[in-house]
Parts: sequence; structure tokens; C-alpha cells
Amino acid sequence: MNQQARINQLRDQLNYHIHRYYVLDSPVISDAEYDQLFHELRRLEEENPELLTADSPTQRVSGIVADAFEKVTHPAPILSLGNAFNKEDLLEWEERTRRFMEQNGDDATQLLDYVVEPKIDGLTVVLTYENGRFTQGATRGNGQVGENITQNLLTLWALPKRIPVDPDSDLEVPARLVIRGEAFFPLDEFGKWNAGREVAGEKTYMNPRNAAAGSLRQLDSKITATRPLTLFCYDLIDWEGDVADSQWDRLQWLKALGFPVSADTVYCENIQAVAAEYDVWAEKRHQINYEVDGMVVKLNNRPLAAGLGFTGKDPRGSIAGKFPAVEKTTTLLNIKVAVGRTGILSPAAVLEPVEIGGVIVQNATLHNFDEIARKDIRIGDKVWVKRAGEVIPYVVGPITDLRDGSERPIVPPTHCPFCNDPAVQIPGEVAIYCDNPICPEQLVRRIEYFVSRVAMDIDGFGTKTGGLLAEVGLVNDLADIYYLNRDDLLALEGFKDKKVDKLLGGLEASKQQTAARFLTALGVRFVGSAAAALLLDTFMSIDRLAQATREEIEAIHGMGEGTATSVVQWFADERNQALLEKFRQAGLPFVMEQAAIDADAPQPLADKVFVITGTLPTLGRKDAKELIEQYGGKVTGSVSKKTDYLLAGEKAGSKLTKAQSLGVAVISESDLQALIGSN
Ligand code: IVH
Repeated sequence: MNQQARINQLRDQLNYHIHRYYVLDSPVISDAEYDQLFHELRRLEEENPELLTADSPTQRVSGIVADAFEKVTHPAPILSLGNAFNKEDLLEWEERTRRFMEQNGDDATQLLDYVVEPKIDGLTVVLTYENGRFTQGATRGNGQVGENITQNLLTLWALPKRIPVDPDSDLEVPARLVIRGEAFFPLDEFGKWNAGREVAGEKTYMNPRNAAAGSLRQLDSKITATRPLTLFCYDLIDWEGDVADSQWDRLQWLKALGFPVSADTVYCENIQAVAAEYDVWAEKRHQINYEVDGMVVKLNNRPLAAGLGFTGKDPRGSIAGKFPAVEKTTTLLNIKVAVGRTGILSPAAVLEPVEIGGVIVQNATLHNFDEIARKDIRIGDKVWVKRAGEVIPYVVGPITDLRDGSERPIVPPTHCPFCNDPAVQIPGEVAIYCDNPICPEQLVRRIEYFVSRVAMDIDGFGTKTGGLLAEVGLVNDLADIYYLNRDDLLALEGFKDKKVDKLLGGLEASKQQTAARFLTALGVRFVGSAAAALLLDTFMSIDRLAQATREEIEAIHGMGEGTATSVVQWFADERNQALLEKFRQAGLPFVMEQAAIDADAPQPLADKVFVITGTLPTLGRKDAKELIEQYGGKVTGSVSKKTDYLLAGEKAGSKLTKAQSLGVAVISESDLQALIGSN
């Protein structure tokens, strides 16, 4: 088999396995087997760069950063739907349909059957396939013109890059096919992801829909790639060739081609069955792992539906059966103030327990004190509480008409409830902070985050361990966890040999984590895992990052002013410098590792021979050596004719003289940074 054929075969196989894993949820090979195929493809593409294509499974993240989204005109209007709010509305809709059929000269007495689909609360996407390849993805925009978000959509595992996805399929693919789908965050993923952002001090999203919209409108698809977005497809917009007339068959066909289609779709043989589904769905919606705000009812006969035309923007042949919102009223009994690891003091509502959408709710978020003031929420108020996609319910607002005068205003805390230090508000920010760097509660939160799965992922470090270690005084700052000793731990209640071994083993193993994880774990405000990866991609080491200016950081795409300021301030703080030194002594990773660089960095120093001498301004000798090697260079001990560069710092001695006499290029640390392109 020639290499092109093998490459095609590997791409087909990989796309098929990606589909089994991400869409069908039923993989047929192990991760290791998948990796093997993936690596073979990557190797072949490296050896034959001319055979590389943008839609190859190895190219999920293109690395292209857009300045703005291009506008694209849809081949047909991307319409919205009219609403029905109860069963009667649905029955009336069929009556209207029959009246229109009569006017059209259709047989209005014929049996009308339907397809009921979940109305996913996500973001509409319009996907174009040409000769079986995904060529363009767009947002709905104003229905006529949308934005080109192809690069971002390419990062969705669930989106077929080529169809049919199954290499053994003999389905014919139309020369051109434009379909409509909905991109969304699964609820469980949204909850985890948003909670991770909250802990990281990053902006959280109100609901999965906003998170999906925000993720798809990133100019840097690397960011989209870190988001747990997925997709369902449900409509044909435009096509060349024959397609089935019935919606049900169209969905089966899309599924067979490899498009993700909701398994919760139901066929109904008449409108009574649809009405019965409305009751079923009103309950079922809470058991589904994505947010649905209604069900979409479609006439199964699509040519008939198309012939009925539109009212305004709404096609007559489909309707949305909207569900009542999951909001209830209850009494706000009190508020609790929690401190986060960045010191933010945040209010939570203590509610009279109330059942919302099948769950008893007693706590809800109140976001921040500004919002409480803005909405004038008072203790004792009857409040609306909403529990929708978001895992944590929230207080929507008070019902002021029901006040009897006994309600008490909520006063923002003047002191941290844990350490009693004065609370501060940073001008221009809504949050109120406990500014005490040694607030014991903050330390506990920071440890929790440091050891958590998004950060250092330390095995054996349970959620209560941090609190206990801080309480007994074994841990007074984050780095102390790497200086714990066996005997001290064994003296603690509940800590037996096995538990201590596991904890110490987990800590030791965590030193092998990536520098990006370590940077994430440090918990610099606004530096979550995506930002940490971007920062290290640019600066390569934590020491170099520590020297970076605000301008340098802001120059990175995807990095805002807030992040830049926060990073610079964090590294400028002497206490943090001391903390970093302590981590360094304990052996934590400060330099981006070889594997991460191999994966995406060019090798500008390939085969160049370096000698290092003198004291460099920011890099230690060892770090400089690692950096050079990471970019493909070699470091030797003495200057000779074979030396390409002498990297010289202050107090360079005989090596400098020798290099000069041999005509070897003498460079500074910043010259080196320029050579590797991180300056
Ligand atoms: S059909 C003309 N089917 O709900 C066809 N829409 O206003 C109109 N939606 O934002 C769309 N799930 O993006 C259809 N299974 C589904 C849907 C669905 C969600 C969204 C759609 C639009 C809104 C309807």
C-alpha cells in the first residue's frame, strides 16, 4: 500500500473511532490502540508534509488565530420557530395546519404524523459538506448572514470532518450538503468546567448556553478546543441530489452518515401522541444531560411542511412546545459568606427548602454583593429561584410586592468571617476581598485547588486533608505540602501507614506533572489551565514568565489586560517569589517539558552547538541548557571551532576570550530568546 493510501485509511479509521467514542459512546478499541493509529498517522504526515490536510484528525487545533470572523451568507434562511405553551396550543397548531392545507389544495383529511425532537438550548450552527468533506461552519447570525467559525467547529470531537464516517459504509454522499445543528455543553461537563473556572478566579458562565456561545466565538480555536462542546444535528438546509421526504428518515440518514443525532427523538403517529409526549418531556427534560427548554414538533412530511410556507420568520410546518421555566418562589432565610482561594468573599443564599424540577433546593448563589444591592434583595424576602442548566441554582430576584416591612437589607461584610481582617474592594471591581495573604481559610481553598484534578492532580490528597494539615500547623503555605514528613503525618488522627504512603507517593509523583499544570496550580488570578498553557507556550519557563512585562503578556492572543496585570503583580510579590523558591527546592517543574515542545514547537536551534558562561540575567545555567535542548540545540562544556554560539552573561571569563579569538558568535540571554522566538 502506498503512503497516501495508508494515510487515507488511518484517517478514516481514526474518524470512525472518534465517532464511536464521542458520538455513539461505544468505543470498539482501547485508548492505546487508538493512540497507536494516531501516532502512525502523525509520523506519516511528518514524513510526507505534502500529504497533510487541514481536516486530518491530527490537526484538530489549527493554531490559526483570527482577527475577526468573516461573514458568510447562508444558502437558505436559517429560521426560528413559533411557540406552543401547552397541549391545547399543539392541537390548535394542527388545526391551523389543516386549514392551510385546504387553502393549498392539499388533502386536508390525510393522516398527519410527526417527529418530536428535544429543543436543545445551545447555539445554532450551519455546517457545509462538499464531496463528503466538512468545508465550512457558521453561526446563525441574523438568519441570512452568519459568522464563519469553521476553525472552532473543527475542534469538536462530535463533528464529522468527513462523511460517511464509517469507512465500510456504502452510503452515497451528496456533492453538497448543508445541515443545521445545535452546539452545546453537556450539563455535567458544564458544571465541572464552570466550577473549575470559579476556583481559578476566572469568569464563570450563567448557563451552558452562554458558555457554548462564548466558546464558539473565540478567535483562537485553541481555547475552543479546551471546552467540552458537543453537537446534535437535526435539519437539512440545502443539498444536491435526492434525500428522503420524511424527517424521521432524514434523521436516520444523518445518523448513518455519522452525524450526532439526539437519541431522545420520538416518532408520533398523530397529534394526540405528540400531546402525550409533551407531558412525558416535561419530566424527562430533567433527566437529560443537556439543557432543553422545549420540544420541537415537526410534520414528518417535509415537502408538505415546506409547502405550507411561513408566518413571519416561523415555518408553519414545525413548532416549539416550550416547557414552563424551572423557577419557584421561596423565602430567603439568611446569607452565608464564603472565602475563595483568591480571597473573594462571596454570598450564598440560605433558603427555605423548595422543590425545583425534582430536586430540593436549600442553597443558591447570589453572585456578589453588587448584584444583591442592584436587585435590592433582602433577608426575609420571597424570592424567585431558578434551577436551569446550571448546577448551582441562583436567586433571580425578590418579589417586592410581598414585603411586609420585616425584611432586612443585606450588608456586605466589613471583615473576613474567617480571619477577621478588614475586607477590601478593589476600585473598578465588584468583588469584595479578604486581603490577608495568610488567611487560614484562603490557604485551605488554595491547597484544595493546588491538589485538584485541574491542577496538580495529587493522588491521595483528599478534600479534607488540606484543612486538617493547615489546622494543625503542618502546612502554613502552599509549598509546605512538599516538606511534610512521615512521622508528623503518622501522628495525625486517622493517618495510618498506608494512607501516609499514598499521600507522600502522590506528592512525589506530582513533581513529574507538566510546568503548565504547576503554573495553573499556583492559582494566579485569571490563570486557569488554558491561560497557563498559553503563557508557557510563549515564555517556555516560569522564570521567564516571571520577568515578562504586562505588554509582553497582553501581546499574546487570548490574553486580556486583567490577566496580564494579575500575572505581573503575582510575580512581583516577594512572598510569592519566596514561595516559588521553596517549590524549586522541592523539585517542581519550572520549564516546559520536551514532550510538550516536541508536539508543537519548531526546532530553530536544531544541531547548533552552544557553550554557556557567566551569570545570565534570568535563567540559571541548568534552565538555559534545558531551554536550548528543548529547541534542538546542544550544550557542551568548552569552546572550540565547532561551537556555534557562546551564551555569555556577566563575569564571563576565559571562554569569552577564546570564543572571540575563534570568531564564535557571542550572544546574550535575550539574543537566545530571540533565536527561539519567545522574545
Ligand atoms: S428546527 C425551521 N429542531 O430552537 C426550523 N430547532 O427557534 C427551525 N433548536 O434557535 C429549527 N433544537 O436553533 C429545530 N431539534 C431542533 C432544535 C431546534 C434546538 C433551536 C434552534 C432555534 C430555536 C427555535
